[in-house]
Amino acid sequence: MNDLHARHRRVLPDWLALYYDRPLEITHGEGRHVWDAEGNRYLDFFGGILTTMTAHALPEVTKAVSEQAGRIIHSSTLYLNRPMVELAERIARLSGIPDARVFFTTSGTEANDTALLLATTHRRSNTILAMRNSYHGRSFSAVGITGNRGWSPTSLSPLQTLYVHGGVRTRGPYAALDDTDFIAACVEDLKDLLGHTRPPAALIAEPVQGVGGFTSPPDGLYAAFREVLDAHGILWIADEVQTGWGRTGDHFWGWQAHDRNGPPDIVTFAKGIGNGMSVGGVIARSEIMNCLDANSISTFGGTQVTMAAGLANLTHLLEHDLQGNARRVGGLLIERLRAATAQDPGVREVRGRGLMIGIELTRPGTDRADPDRAAAVLEAARAGGLLVGKGGGHSTSALRVAPPLSLTVAEAEEGAAILESALRSTR
Ligand SMILES: Cc1ncc(COP(=O)(O)O)c(C=O)c1O
Repeated sequence: MNDLHARHRRVLPDWLALYYDRPLEITHGEGRHVWDAEGNRYLDFFGGILTTMTAHALPEVTKAVSEQAGRIIHSSTLYLNRPMVELAERIARLSGIPDARVFFTTSGTEANDTALLLATTHRRSNTILAMRNSYHGRSFSAVGITGNRGWSPTSLSPLQTLYVHGGVRTRGPYAALDDTDFIAACVEDLKDLLGHTRPPAALIAEPVQGVGGFTSPPDGLYAAFREVLDAHGILWIADEVQTGWGRTGDHFWGWQAHDRNGPPDIVTFAKGIGNGMSVGGVIARSEIMNCLDANSISTFGGTQVTMAAGLANLTHLLEHDLQGNARRVGGLLIERLRAATAQDPGVREVRGRGLMIGIELTRPGTDRADPDRAAAVLEAARAGGLLVGKGGGHSTSALRVAPPLSLTVAEAEEGAAILESALRSTR
């Protein structure tokens, strides 16, 4: 074991998982590439868990951060903060939420925690509807709405959570139905559930489940849910921590795949917007955002240096139409991966949209997850010069492919070839 790994093990928690038998120390990056401490170069198809959204060492972000750091890094929200107001204005406009207010946090967890505080206070209910196989963060409240056993270290919770069907299209009791019947069955189940419970505050859902292995319902499920929720006054919270900012290619927000009824009541975001600087947040109509009757601050939320990074990153994303790039290059990549794995009996499904692609591995001839092969593919891909992630509900047996949104066609082809040979070598 190398020295840094041994020191990590001695001083950091056991539950802080590390990838690879010989964990990697990444020392620098550029574009879609990173280098390790031994000087090896890798094509990065995971972006620090979908967080390096545009590119590593994007010059505009680096410049904005260093210039802002040279002026002032932080003043707290007790004072006016120009970059925070500017980024809030831009995000409010992009959200489509009428009379939107934005509150900045330092992480996705804190964003979801805030959304739960707002929804439960607004509705005077601590009952929350969440999806099976969901992940929304690591705090006490976020763990309480996590429908994924692998990320649920406790069942104690300040919330009463009811888990709804529908986040996973190809597993569960409705998997054999066609899309229309699948949606109808999930809606019936939701209606039935609501007949047995105290009125919930909100439904929270990831439009494409991230940690769950890039699983999703058929388009339109959340619009169909929305009609039921609206009839009961229940709020709809879209957790866009992984799916926001054009990652899914077809849409700027993941919820737009379900569009019919317009934007959700509350949207949460984090990860990609800061390109690695810690920016998270909540967007809600003023009536919901302003329902708290006591002060509430996040000391580090909206600090100038992170807001400067967010502004520069968002400007680059929009000016270079990286959503369009995610649609085009992601479309080629998924087709390439589907073709490469079509004859592999251990590949159950290649799914996703844009640059959010999941490859679910099962033991050949069964429907049982194959986490050992997923781990072996990760190792083999690394040896070939490619970093990918993994995830999944029942066990971590889905490979997760989520490069920065500026991925070129040549890089997509190179990465697909490495992944194809990693899959072949582990059959
Ligand atoms: C959908 C989703 N929500 C919330 C979170 C929590 O975000 P953070 O790790 O920044 O607290 C994550 C993190 O992976 C996530 O994928």
